[in-house]
Amino acid sequence: MTTHLTSTQLAAELEAEARSTLPAHVSGYVGATAGAGECHAEGLAAWAALRLVPRVLRGGRADGAVDTSTAVLGTPVRTPVLLAPMAQQVAAHPRGEAEAARAVAAAGSLLGVSTNTAVPFTEVGAAGAPWWYQVYVLRDRSLTQLLVERAAASGAGALLLTVDTTSLTQPSEPGAASVEPTEWPDGPGRARLTALTSADLAGSESGAASPALDVDLGTVRWLAEVSGLPVVVKGVLHPDDAAACVEAGAVGVVVSTHGGRRLGASVTSAEALPGVVAAVRAVSPAAEVYADSGVRSGAAVAAALALGARAVFVGRPAWWGLAARGADGVGRVLGGLTEELAGVMRQCGAASVADLTPDLVASRHLRA
Ligand SMILES: Cc1cc2nc3c(=O)[nH]c(=O)nc-3n(C[C@H](O)[C@H](O)[C@H](O)COP(=O)(O)O)c2cc1C
Repeated sequence: MTTHLTSTQLAAELEAEARSTLPAHVSGYVGATAGAGECHAEGLAAWAALRLVPRVLRGGRADGAVDTSTAVLGTPVRTPVLLAPMAQQVAAHPRGEAEAARAVAAAGSLLGVSTNTAVPFTEVGAAGAPWWYQVYVLRDRSLTQLLVERAAASGAGALLLTVDTTSLTQPSEPGAASVEPTEWPDGPGRARLTALTSADLAGSESGAASPALDVDLGTVRWLAEVSGLPVVVKGVLHPDDAAACVEAGAVGVVVSTHGGRRLGASVTSAEALPGVVAAVRAVSPAAEVYADSGVRSGAAVAAALALGARAVFVGRPAWWGLAARGADGVGRVLGGLTEELAGVMRQCGAASVADLTPDLVASRHLRA
């Protein structure tokens, strides 16, 4: 008998598998949530609670095929399920992002590469998957400049400027000892520095790599100028902030609670998405809105797209998948969500992602 796991069940299975082999301080870091974990729990629940109103009598192909492909900032992808930038992936797998990128390439997806990566950009790019470089603006901006220049030269297609990390202390998983990656006995805590040589670092104080807390809207244009890449701002929940980012030159925003890892009392991404979409559209119809944090099913992906997201990012399930089964684990997460999305699209009469329109989402979830 074969059992077919839902994406939600698969995520739980991969997490259990990964936790059974990872050191507790690593699992504790990956599973960490802010506050009492309420934002993370409600984030999962909010996506899972979205209800769709299927459309019928729309024809469709006799073989039931639907087209999940789209384009993100002009880059074609076969699925709107993208891999979120996540730190410390060499703690999941010896090849880290390079291994994850193989799965992403096979899935026809795209990955975000964290500032805190230990894998050289060239190895990530070698898999052939499109990738965006996630930027934490470092205290020494000349180092950030070097990193984004190198990312651009190595084939990054865009920058994801993360702006929701205002505290240098990570949240701790309830009940788990909080150990910063910088303090892991075996940890690649200064992983980001692998993209820099010791000559680059000469003259920088040791704290140079800490994220600066004074990122402002001018940073968007500065990053675009020094890298020559489009900038997407990640970690936006308030519609006014989203509008300001686009006015400041961002080509898109990611509605994100950082996986519920920043503010326990935060609104969820699912709740924030419609307001952000409306605010961004009002400034620039061409700007793209993405969403992440707690997306665990194809129905949630469909609902996010129907509410105006161009694509979604998936985080923890892929990190656990990488730790448990390498590229195969990441591939199953991306493939499972995409397969579920296709099933939901078929049942909703949506032949392509462009057919996922707001009227498919039950009105109780839409803002007045
Ligand atoms: C272990 C871990 C490390 C992360 N590291 C980063 C990071 O370096 N930069 C960043 O912008 N977001 C980081 N994130 C947040 C993810 O990009 C993403 O927003 C979040 O994981 C999505 O929520 P989900 O895990 O519920 O799918 C990290 C998340 C996890 C779980």
